[in-house]
Amino acid sequence: MSALRETMRHVPSSVAVVTALHEGVPVGMTVGSFTSASLDPPLVSFFAGNSSTTWPLIERTGRFCVNVLSAQQPQIATAFAARDADRFGGRDWTTSPLGSPLLDGVLAWLDCELHALHAVGDHVAVAGLVRGAHAVGDAKPLVFFRGELAALG
Ligand SMILES: Cc1cc2nc3c(=O)[nH]c(=O)nc-3n(C[C@H](O)[C@H](O)[C@H](O)COP(=O)(O)O)c2cc1C
Repeated sequence: MSALRETMRHVPSSVAVVTALHEGVPVGMTVGSFTSASLDPPLVSFFAGNSSTTWPLIERTGRFCVNVLSAQQPQIATAFAARDADRFGGRDWTTSPLGSPLLDGVLAWLDCELHALHAVGDHVAVAGLVRGAHAVGDAKPLVFFRGELAALG
């Protein structure tokens, strides 16, 4: 393992699932790179790996929903990172105002239009224009730290 990879294991990250409705089919992927980027205009960002098979589908829709997971949702984080999983199978979700899948029970969600893309090494930096931002409740967040999904606190 490289020094960079080993060091970044010690930097905690939020855990979110980025979703879209691609030709009527819900798609989504777990990201640990979600962050706010700009207040005016309101932009958020995450990094998608160049080998991701889900990101190109989301990109084609031109919009996405960022579902920030709560401490009760580690199994969702794992499922949306697994290549051969039925990611939406058995899960409850509705549709956001922009038409992207909104998972039940999330901590917060942001309804975004695709704003800009920048190649960054083996990832692409995705900027989303925020059309709706919602904090749902006071549940604890899920964090990824030292290779494990855990509740904060
Ligand atoms: C905690 C966690 C954080 C992750 N963060 C990212 C990320 O920021 N960007 C990314 O492209 N993949 C990330 N992944 C991997 C993706 O969820 C997923 O494995 C990858 O997109 C392969 O699936 P796909 O081919 O359907 O895209 C993360 C996985 C986990 C478990």
